[in-house]
Amino acid sequence: MQSEIKRITTHILREFKQKGEKIACLTSYDFSMAKLVDSAGIEVILVGDSASNVMAGHETTLPITVDQMIYHAQGVVRGVKRALVVVDLPFGSYQGNSTEALRTAVRIMKESEAHAVKMEGGVEIEDCIRRVLSAGIPVMGHLGLTPQSIYKFGTYTVRAKEEQEAALLRSNARLLEDLGCFGVVLEKIPARLAREVSASLTIPTIGIGAGNGCDGQILVIHDMLGINKDFSPRFLRRYADLAEVMNTAFMNYISDVKAGDFPNEKESY
Ligand code: KIV
Repeated sequence: MQSEIKRITTHILREFKQKGEKIACLTSYDFSMAKLVDSAGIEVILVGDSASNVMAGHETTLPITVDQMIYHAQGVVRGVKRALVVVDLPFGSYQGNSTEALRTAVRIMKESEAHAVKMEGGVEIEDCIRRVLSAGIPVMGHLGLTPQSIYKFGTYTVRAKEEQEAALLRSNARLLEDLGCFGVVLEKIPARLAREVSASLTIPTIGIGAGNGCDGQILVIHDMLGINKDFSPRFLRRYADLAEVMNTAFMNYISDVKAGDFPNEKESY
C-alpha cells in the first residue's frame, strides 16, 4: 500500500519554528525541476519573480508579468506532491491599491492552484496585504533587499546596516506578523539583525544572505546548482556545477552526432 504524503501547510511551518527545526526552501519555475526538488524533501518551493532573471534573461525582476508568473506556477504545482508552493506577485501588480492586489492574488491562486503568495514590502503595502489575507490567501512577506525596488536602492548591497533602516525593518517584521502573514523572507541584511528579528517573531523567517539565525533558508535554484555562474555573492553556496556537467554532455552529444555515432543500432527502430 502506498503511504499518503502529508502536505506542508503554513501551520506546519509554524510548528517547525516552534520545534526549532529549520525550514528548507528553494525556488523553481517549471514542472520537471519542481518534481525533483519536491521529491528530495524540500518544505517550500517559491515560484520567484527571479524567473525574470534566470528563466528570461532580464537584468532585474521588474519586467516579468502576472501571466508569465502564472505559467511558471502552473508547471511547478503540477510537479509537486508535498511542498508548499508560494508565488511572487510581480512588480506593478499589487502596489497600486488593495483591490488590484486582491485581483492579482486571486488570479494567481485560481489559475495556478498554488498555496500562497509573496509580496515585497511592509507598511507601504499594508492595505494590500490586509486585503489579500482577508480573502483567505496566505501571504509571505519579504523585507530587507527587495529586488522589485532595486532602482530605489541603486545597488544590491546589504540593507539595514544603519540603525534607522534596521528599526524600520524591525517594525515592518512585527507589522507583517500582526497582519497575519505566515512567514517572512529576510534578504541580504546583517546576520545579527536577522537573528534578533527571528527571535522576536512567532512566524518563521526565511533567510537569503541573512545568516544562520533565520528559521529557514532559501536559494535561487539556478545559482545553487551552478547553472547560472554569473552571480556569485558571498551568501551563495554552490551545491553542484551543473554548467560544467551540462557543457560536457552537450559537447559529447555534438561529437557523437558529427561522428555519425549517434544513434547506433540499438537506438534505432
Ligand atoms: O524571486 C525570488 O527568487 C525571491 C527569493 C530570492 C527570495 O524572492
